[in-house]
Amino acid sequence: MLKGKKISFIGGGKMGSALIKGILAHNLIAPGKVTVADVVEGQLEELRKTYGVLATKDNKKAVGEADIIILAVKPQNMTEVLEGISGGIDTGKLIITIAAGISTGFIEEHLKKGARVMRVMPNTPALIGEGAAAIARGSHATDEDLALTLHIFDAVGITVTVKEDLMDAVTGLSGSGPAYAFVIIDALADAGVNMGLARDIAVKLSAQTLLGAAKLCLIGDKHPAALKDMVTSPGGTTIAGLQAIEEGKLRATMMAAVEAATLRAKELGRKK
Ligand SMILES: NC(=O)c1ccc[n+]([C@@H]2O[C@H](COP(=O)([O-])OP(=O)(O)OC[C@H]3O[C@@H](n4cnc5c(N)ncnc54)[C@H](OP(=O)(O)O)[C@@H]3O)[C@@H](O)[C@H]2O)c1
Repeated sequence: MLKGKKISFIGGGKMGSALIKGILAHNLIAPGKVTVADVVEGQLEELRKTYGVLATKDNKKAVGEADIIILAVKPQNMTEVLEGISGGIDTGKLIITIAAGISTGFIEEHLKKGARVMRVMPNTPALIGEGAAAIARGSHATDEDLALTLHIFDAVGITVTVKEDLMDAVTGLSGSGPAYAFVIIDALADAGVNMGLARDIAVKLSAQTLLGAAKLCLIGDKHPAALKDMVTSPGGTTIAGLQAIEEGKLRATMMAAVEAATLRAKELGRKK
């Protein structure tokens, strides 16, 4: 699907690098067809050395050569980036933005009329092909643009399509979610250490338990609550643990976390 096409990344930081690694590992495109532009020389050198991609400090040059441009800079840098590259973007190019809180409308306003924009909220497990990304289309994006975007992000994990007004909620849930999961894994490991387990063993058991439970949710057709009921016997150990979880308000804390991150994404979108 990407045959004969060139992709340029504007921004080769954490997320840009994760996507580059993912699409190359899945042989979606040859390294020589990928260009990354960044302001950090060391970052460019690292990407050039590790992946064999083309690297430049010149955003305009990167844009000029590409069929697909992935905007992977921080939301606060988006305006200056768009102002710098807008002259080189016509309706022949597909723009994919992954910036939290930045709407397709905002991108379109800064580019020539009719610009084809897709918006994606990925997450960092894309680095190992286990990402979760939501995709929304801008007003001039075509069915083929949607298919191409799904193709790119399916290679580095799972994808869902959503209406754009839900993208901040996606940012709050799966965009920021890996950090919540790391805290839970660390907390469970602490709990194991507190009960006498060695740290390395506790981390291994904790992380694999989350991974296994997540796979059961994704592979089967059972609701998470049904899966929980299946391992909770009357008067047993698990229900005793669950009671402590309810007393500690884990569910309310998760809801508050996703709400706070969603609101922050909205705020960043207004500030940019
Ligand atoms: N990290 C995540 O988990 C995640 C998840 C979902 C979505 N995202 C989105 O992905 C985007 C990138 O996030 P990130 O975590 O990868 O950030 P990052 O690590 O800071 O990467 C952004 C890179 O772009 C560079 N840059 C800044 N201004 C530039 C310019 N004018 N032209 C070219 N490059 C420029 C930055 O350099 P400096 O460091 O010098 O500024 C940095 O190397 C953000 O919009 C974020 O909302 C991130």
